[in-house]
Amino acid sequence: MRTMAVVERRKEDIPSAQLVKKEVVYETNGLNVWYGEHHALKHIHLSFYEREITAIIGPSGCGKSTYIKTLNRMIELIPNVRLEGEILYRGRRIFDTSYPVEQLRTQVGMVFQKPNPFPKSIYDNVAYGPRIHGIRDRRLLDEIVEKSLRQAALWEEVKDRLHENALGLSGGQQQRLCIARCLAVEPDVILMDEPTSALDPISTAKVEELMGELKTKYSIIIVTHNMQQAARISDRTAFFLNGEVIEYGETKTLFSRPADQRTADYIAGRFG
Ligand SMILES: Nc1ncnc2c1ncn2[C@@H]1O[C@H](COP(=O)(O)OP(=O)(O)OP(=O)(O)O)[C@@H](O)[C@H]1O
Ligand SMILES: [Mg+2]
Repeated sequence: MRTMAVVERRKEDIPSAQLVKKEVVYETNGLNVWYGEHHALKHIHLSFYEREITAIIGPSGCGKSTYIKTLNRMIELIPNVRLEGEILYRGRRIFDTSYPVEQLRTQVGMVFQKPNPFPKSIYDNVAYGPRIHGIRDRRLLDEIVEKSLRQAALWEEVKDRLHENALGLSGGQQQRLCIARCLAVEPDVILMDEPTSALDPISTAKVEELMGELKTKYSIIIVTHNMQQAARISDRTAFFLNGEVIEYGETKTLFSRPADQRTADYIAGRFG
C-alpha cells in the first residue's frame, strides 16, 4: 500500500530543488480514435500525475468517455474502432501486444455513471475482485471488505447488513459500494465517468468528499459535466471539444484565467 503525507506548501516558500516532483501516471501521445469513419479523438497529448484529481470537461459528444475508455483499453471491446498514437501507463505502452491487459485492469479501476453493483450481497460485491485474485482466507477477506467499505465512507451505513443484496441500497450508497469494490483490489488509478450525475446532492457531496480523501493514495481521472464539481475537487482540468483538447492546466488557472476563448465561453455556460 502506498502512503505518503501530502504537504501543501506554496511554491514561493521553498527553493525549487525541494519541490516534490510528482510522477506521471499516464501519458497520451498523439492519440487518435475513429469509430468507423467518425474521428472521435484527434491528436490528444495529455499527461496525468499521481495523487492528483484530473477532471475532463466538455460538451456532450466531445469524446470524454471515449478517452477514458482508451485508458484501460475498454475501447477494444467496441467493434470498428481504430486507434493511432500511444498511451503510456507508468512508462509502458499499454497497446503493445505484450502488455498484460488483466494487469492493467487491476491497476486501473473504473467507476461508471450508473452505479452497477452485482446482484449479490454487499460483502460479495467487495470481495469479488480479491477472490478473483485467489484470496480465499475468510479473515483476510473480512478485513479487506471492512477496510474498503471504510475507505468508501460506507461502512457505518452497511456494517449490519453486509449479507443483504446490494441492489437494496440507495443510488448513492450503490455508487460508494462500486467505489469500495474498486478499492478492494488496491488500484493505482481510478477512472470515473460522471460518477455523481445519477446522484442526489447529498450523495454527490459524500462522493466528492471521498475523492478528496482518496487522492492522498490514488490518482483519479474524472469525467464530469458539472463544472462547479470540476472546480471544487480537481487539481488539473482538461477541456475537450469536438474530439480535441482545447486547454489543459491547473484547475484554478483554467477556471479563473482560461487561455482560449472557447474554454472561457464553455465555463461561462455560453454553450454545451
Ligand atoms: N460505440 C460507438 N460507435 C460509434 N460512435 C460512437 C460510439 N461511442 C461514441 N461514439 C461517438 O463518438 C463521439 C464521442 O462520444 P463520447 O461518448 O466519447 O462523448 P462524451 O464526451 O462522453 O459525451 P457525453 O457527455 O454525452 O457522455 C460522439 O460523436 C459519439 O456519437
Ligand atoms: Mg460520456
